[in-house]
Amino acid sequence: MQTQAEHPLFIPLILGTARQERQSEHVARFVFEQTKKRAGVETELIDVRALPMRLDDAGEQMKDPAFSSTIERCDGLILITPEYNHGYPGLLKHALDMNLKEYIHKAVGICGVSAGPFGGARAIENLLPVMRELGLVTIFEDVNFGNVGKLFDESGQLLDQNYVLRVNKFLDELIWMSRVLRHGRERVAP
Ligand SMILES: Cc1cc2nc3c(=O)[nH]c(=O)nc-3n(C[C@H](O)[C@H](O)[C@H](O)COP(=O)(O)O)c2cc1C
Repeated sequence: MQTQAEHPLFIPLILGTARQERQSEHVARFVFEQTKKRAGVETELIDVRALPMRLDDAGEQMKDPAFSSTIERCDGLILITPEYNHGYPGLLKHALDMNLKEYIHKAVGICGVSAGPFGGARAIENLLPVMRELGLVTIFEDVNFGNVGKLFDESGQLLDQNYVLRVNKFLDELIWMSRVLRHGRERVAP
């Protein structure tokens, strides 16, 4: 149903932890590869480790021009968040807070990662009101990477193929929402 003239959707991912030996990196790389396979979608993997973030400031006044222009350009966003003490990492919030108007009326989908069985469900739930405040529109599909220590081998290869289907269902919904919201931003007066 995509028209010939439609330019590709841009849906980057943000890997939300800088922890040494982070398992969420396997998840981010897997979801990134699945997203790259989608026709009509361009993507990029943003690592919070690589963002120039000060620890003695917060918010838009420490805006990074490259990060802001990536978010400005995007139609949707994928967050990969581990669960840390039933919440999301502070560094992910610190990074998200660097932008504001760039998020408005864009779609967002969240993948949760945890050592425990719930796949970051509590981190995702805690992120939802933050998404709303940023003007992002959440989709109703998440992917929960629970017991993540058993989901990938040492080289990061996925061991449970059920996640291919889960991520594809998630991407179907995120791509649809991203397309609909772009249509709205471009054609419907606020
Ligand atoms: C500070 C901290 C708190 C954590 N709290 C939880 C938790 O509440 N629930 C859970 O299932 N796993 C918890 N974990 C384990 C992570 O979910 C686990 O490390 C998993 O691999 C995802 O995080 P990672 O990307 O940093 O590896 C915690 C890990 C850290 C470092």
